[in-house]
Amino acid sequence: SYPPSAMSTAAPANNGFLSCLIKSVPPRLLHGKSSRAYGSIWESTVRNVKFVSDKTVKPVYIITPTEAAHIQATVACGRKHGLRVRVRSGGHDYEGLSYRSAKPETFAVVDLSMMRQVRIDGKAATAWVDSGAQLGELYYAVAKMTPSLGFPAGVCATIGVGGHFSGGGFGMLLRKYGTAGDNVIDAKVVDANGTLLDRKSMGEDYFWAIRGGGGESFGIVVSWQVQLVPVPPKVTVFQIHRGVKDGAIDLINKWQQVAPSLPDDLMIRIMAMEQDAMFEALYLGTCKDLLPLMASRFPELGVKQEDCNEMPWIQSVAFIPMGKSATVMDLLNRTSNIKAFGKYKSDYVKDPIPRDVWEKIYTWLAKPGAGVMIMDPYGARISSIPKDATPFPHRQGVLFNIQYVSYWFGEGDGAAPTQWSRDMYAFMEPYVSKNPRQAYANYRDLDLGVNEVVGDVSTYDSGRVWGEKYYNGNFERLARTKAKVDPCDYFRNEQSIPPLLK
Ligand code: FDA
Repeated sequence: SYPPSAMSTAAPANNGFLSCLIKSVPPRLLHGKSSRAYGSIWESTVRNVKFVSDKTVKPVYIITPTEAAHIQATVACGRKHGLRVRVRSGGHDYEGLSYRSAKPETFAVVDLSMMRQVRIDGKAATAWVDSGAQLGELYYAVAKMTPSLGFPAGVCATIGVGGHFSGGGFGMLLRKYGTAGDNVIDAKVVDANGTLLDRKSMGEDYFWAIRGGGGESFGIVVSWQVQLVPVPPKVTVFQIHRGVKDGAIDLINKWQQVAPSLPDDLMIRIMAMEQDAMFEALYLGTCKDLLPLMASRFPELGVKQEDCNEMPWIQSVAFIPMGKSATVMDLLNRTSNIKAFGKYKSDYVKDPIPRDVWEKIYTWLAKPGAGVMIMDPYGARISSIPKDATPFPHRQGVLFNIQYVSYWFGEGDGAAPTQWSRDMYAFMEPYVSKNPRQAYANYRDLDLGVNEVVGDVSTYDSGRVWGEKYYNGNFERLARTKAKVDPCDYFRNEQSIPPLLK
């Protein structure tokens, strides 16, 4: 291991680092700021367009490894020559921390977009997936090998496996199978000494921490072994819109009491926007079985045969985010068509929100700059896993998660949507979880707090401010684990887990 004195937060772009790296990594995989490919590689997976700006603090080098040894060499050379690295898999970080720094800092980025293999063992129903793969590539490979298997992770196909699994990761199968992190059974990680570890050699605390404790903090996860899950030959999707004028508020009021206790085969989420609510469902079965279930548990929604879209599970994975005309091949498209500037926040609701408050929420949704509220019900599997089984603590007692999505398309400076998101968040405070007010780590929000660095180490007390919101009682164990595996705080960003050194 290297002495802490070798590190510096503001090391100059240094030739020592490059000469060190060139011994182990082919030059075509190293991109300095003046190289021709630098700009297009940096921008390739910037998903929040507001960071495409001259003011953004960008890396001095981008390394695009094709094998684990290149990552090991990058970490070893970075430590030796005092250059920090950030890692990017799919670039979906809402605050862009995988490819930019919020403060002036000299750093390199390890971009994993060339490490995207998925290797499936159909018999064992497991897969090894590289961090640089996007979720769509994983879903596609699994279904192609065995249509009776799937994997529970996020809804958007272009999300990177690396960051997503690191923060938990959930989508339409969360009630049946929990988070992506809950279904990880082994991993390969490059630690702060540049050593490649697997579950056995890293030990259980380390393995626990990487399955939900957030990206960047514990090393660079090269690949993950996951347990695949059974899916039926046919699933049913519906997307039903109801306006406020058609009773949307009564329906949402009922939904919040029903959706978290439905059978685990059924997930009904809501997207509330302007004066509309879209009830979007995935049912692991046919319409014939879904209709009587809806008639007995949530008749007010009035689901009919013609609302049902039956399809193989893999088709539903394309249908839900991309619409009816999407094909399974679209899951492999790595070019995101999302060109939005965005600000995102999240909440957890534990007690039903009073009906009159839903009315007020809809007045908020009609204000200038208003965004969307996406509400995912919990209950069933995600809630039955103990709170400390992985760092993701949002389990028993949670009715639903809210994501506040504010976006704009470059008009103006985004002041109105950004302000709306903060005002909306302030309005919701009395109606959501308290002490701490919980938030989901993968919906990163720097308004919750950022680390203070003292003596070249992020402080535990500054980390607690945001960290207990994402991780509740698991934050301390994460910080103790960080102290064991990376006491010098080599892997860090504005919201990385600080080492608890005492
Ligand atoms: P990115 O590459 O930006 O990494 C995110 C963080 O993890 C960074 O701190 C990065 O340094 C670190 N990291 C990345 N790769 C790593 C690795 N190999 N080892 C260690 N650390 C690593 N979430 C959800 O749960 N369900 C959903 O349905 C959605 N939907 C969604 C849609 C859209 C359009 C966006 C932009 C985001 C979501 N998300 C989501 C949130 C998403 O899960 C979250 O942003 C993930 O961290 C993204 O992972 P990426 O690898 O793409 O991001």
